[in-house]
Amino acid sequence: METVSQLQSVLCDESANLALRFRALFSLKHFGVNGDLTAIDAIAAAFPSESALLKHELAYCLGQTKNPHAIKPLRDRLEDPNEAAICRHESAEALAAIGGADSLPLLRKYLDDKEESVRQTCELAIAKIEYDLSGKGVTEDLQKSAFASIDPAPPLPSSVKSIADLQTAMNDQSLTLFDRYRAMFRLRDIGTPDAIDALASGFADPSALFRHEIAFIFGQMSDPHSKDVLMKVLADTKEDGMVRHEAAEALGSIGLPEIDEELKKYVNDPEKLVRDSAIVALDMSEFEKSGDFEYALVPEKAKA
Ligand SMILES: [Fe+2]
Ligand SMILES: [Fe+2]
Repeated sequence: METVSQLQSVLCDESANLALRFRALFSLKHFGVNGDLTAIDAIAAAFPSESALLKHELAYCLGQTKNPHAIKPLRDRLEDPNEAAICRHESAEALAAIGGADSLPLLRKYLDDKEESVRQTCELAIAKIEYDLSGKGVTEDLQKSAFASIDPAPPLPSSVKSIADLQTAMNDQSLTLFDRYRAMFRLRDIGTPDAIDALASGFADPSALFRHEIAFIFGQMSDPHSKDVLMKVLADTKEDGMVRHEAAEALGSIGLPEIDEELKKYVNDPEKLVRDSAIVALDMSEFEKSGDFEYALVPEKAKA
């Protein structure tokens, strides 16, 4: 299909503007989610890229297609010890998004990986696949989420309403990460300013993976109420690059002129992950303000 090959050329062009490549990627994801296998191959074709940011996003998008066709390239990323941890983490998470017992042995293999983010993602991924296989998702009363994403864990049931209790459970390090994420996603779905404040308390957690998920959720919510804490996270040069990256993109999703001014300070950040994120975030913010329907490059004829 001509459109897919055009998008693939943009996505794989290492000299092209990163923001443009992200837009091409999101268009391909759109086709991939609708079952277009050539779009999935086109996304996987960009893995030789030098940009860890782009590669982790490729993995994320492959997972969101929920298509078993994407399993092979994701396994290859997870199994490559020279691959950036952020990309291996996202590949493990994507395997869980696609699901299926077949991925369990591979995920178990990395439960003692040298990278904490990979170990913890594999722990979560195994718990998610086991949860899905258990059929609990059908019997539990889960609020229908306002977000279309396939998440690393389902929210806690909608009967759990106390923000204080959810905050306590989310931050309780004696619970499994999977249960703590369930509290986190329940808070996201509640979505009030109090729920956002409760989520923000998670930035004190020792796990960078956990903190990056809070920032990711704030990006999904795109609520200006989270902007001050996100700016603080982004400004903290001692914070993990994965977390600062997610904070930058979350700020881009909120899309306010005063945030743009802040983001512009990071386009030359010493950490590549952060500068690349600032570039993409500014483009996302541009899109938010444009009122366009979808953040993607889908040509007009394909949109119809
Ligand atoms: Fe991630
Ligand atoms: Fe990310």
